[in-house]
Amino acid sequence: MTSITLFLILITLSSLIIPYFHLPLASSSLISPPSNQGQWNLLQPTIGISAMHMQLTHNDKIIIFDRTDFGPSNLPLSNGECRMDPYDTALKTDCTAHSVLYDIYTNTFRSLTIQTDTWCSSGSVLPNGTLIQTGGFNDGERRIRMFTPCFHENCDWIEFPSYLIERRWYATNQILPDNRVIIIGGRKQFNYEFFPKTITSSESSPSSIHLPFLQETNDPNENNLYPFVHLLPNGNLFIFANKRSILLDYKQNRVVKEFPEISGGDPRNYPSSGSSVLLPLDENLNSIEAEIMVCGGAPRGAFEEASKGNFIQALNTCGFLKVTDSNPNWIMKNMPIARVMGDMLILPNGDIIIINGVELGTAGWENGRRPVLTPVIYRSSVTVTESQRFSIMQRASRPRLYHSSAVVLRDGRVLVGGSNPHVNYNFSGVEFPTDLSLEAFSPPYLSPEFDPVRPIIRHVTSYILGYRVFYYVTFTVGKFGSASDVSVRILAPSFSTHSYGMNQRMVVLKLIGVTEVNFGTYYATVVGPSTQEIAPPGYYILFLVHEGVPSSGTWVQLM
Ligand SMILES: *[C@@H]1O[C@H](CO)[C@@H](O)[C@H](O)[C@H]1NC(C)=O
Ligand SMILES: *[C@@H]1O[C@H](CO)[C@@H](O)[C@H](O)[C@H]1NC(C)=O
Repeated sequence: MTSITLFLILITLSSLIIPYFHLPLASSSLISPPSNQGQWNLLQPTIGISAMHMQLTHNDKIIIFDRTDFGPSNLPLSNGECRMDPYDTALKTDCTAHSVLYDIYTNTFRSLTIQTDTWCSSGSVLPNGTLIQTGGFNDGERRIRMFTPCFHENCDWIEFPSYLIERRWYATNQILPDNRVIIIGGRKQFNYEFFPKTITSSESSPSSIHLPFLQETNDPNENNLYPFVHLLPNGNLFIFANKRSILLDYKQNRVVKEFPEISGGDPRNYPSSGSSVLLPLDENLNSIEAEIMVCGGAPRGAFEEASKGNFIQALNTCGFLKVTDSNPNWIMKNMPIARVMGDMLILPNGDIIIINGVELGTAGWENGRRPVLTPVIYRSSVTVTESQRFSIMQRASRPRLYHSSAVVLRDGRVLVGGSNPHVNYNFSGVEFPTDLSLEAFSPPYLSPEFDPVRPIIRHVTSYILGYRVFYYVTFTVGKFGSASDVSVRILAPSFSTHSYGMNQRMVVLKLIGVTEVNFGTYYATVVGPSTQEIAPPGYYILFLVHEGVPSSGTWVQLM
């Protein structure tokens, strides 16, 4: 691994005026010829478990887990160990693994041990790189578990029983600017709480905080689980549940604003599982804008219809809401393919990929039909014309339905795994067998035809000048005549489950200048994020993008 990890210092001196000249803003000028639709590769035919939840770590491994009460998985625990769990609903003695650690560069994996049920849970990586996973089902519903990445091979999960104040099953987590994690909602939980637990002066033990919005958005099929949560540059949380969305000031438990309902009025959260991203925040703009993109899902009533064997067409719309506008309204656009249970990920060049899922039915056991095998890429750049926004990618061979997941890797590939719409692992006599494989999709920008413009990060340095901290990035951009159309971006890797990437965010750093130091070698001078609300402390992947083609990324720690 050649990544250079440095300590970058977050500057909060946004009022400082630094003389600089502007280069053109980042634009994805990459237009793929129709023949280039990316490429699929099978990485592992089986990792022994089905990838229901995934998190990339800053040492390029992926923590993967599903649930303990699927019964036996296809991977034994190491050293013949067994787990004794009198509460497990499937196996009281279980000698198989329900979690693995996958190593991207050696393409190998090893089993990890979880003691209690992690089914439909949530997670966030803390600023120091430790993953905290929260909740689950049954004996796991109030647990938290920690996994600290290690370079040796014996790190494993550590569990903390009864940590959570409430049961958290289908909750959403968001890392906060002050290093805490907020854990929001979950089944029959119309409230939120924090990690670590905070005690206010007026109470002796911590309690969760009621959020009526979650109750109001709970319809007969729920449709408000795994709410979409995005931390906005002003420090408030955007929360989308069912068809409604609010701005929450969590510090004062105050709903600052309610936005209009998403056009069409159909639900977008589990089990009507659409997905959502905060589009890249751009520090090069005079005043920072934040725009939410919500795509796909299932129409109201789809869950009931599916239980009667009637699998109705998923939604084919994406809604865009510029939440920093004073009176924003949803702008709707049509995707080329209707989709429910699609994962949305921010690619290194700022484009959005929508991958996995089905065209008919909804989330939940046995509820999906007609898998959508083709990912779609949405080009988010302002310079792209509307007719060029969406493009259809290469077809995958494996359906990824309920309980599948997807993450972006440092090298720009998208790794997908999972799919198990059945109560147990089931490999025969079913239309969509449980899938234990891992595959990678290489978006068009990875094609060798773009090598002539592909930038390479040589090294990253931080330089302190007075109170300001600049991040100096030296890079080589190959044999071409100009350094125009360059941007430097950081991406927080997401905790992926149930078609939603928690904590995912990209910030386009303020570009001060690009200087040629040698033929084809340049320095790009960029400034770190201006506030912790724009980019909370933690590990990010830094990418350099030139003419829409990203470099391979480098891990940086923002602190
Ligand atoms: C990160 O912080 C958590 C919570 O304080 C702690 O339990 C964990 O050990 C820390 N991890 C590292 C790598 O220091
Ligand atoms: C798999 O599903 C089929 C069809 O529902 C069922 O007959 C079979 O018993 C299931 N197998 C397992 C191992 O659950």
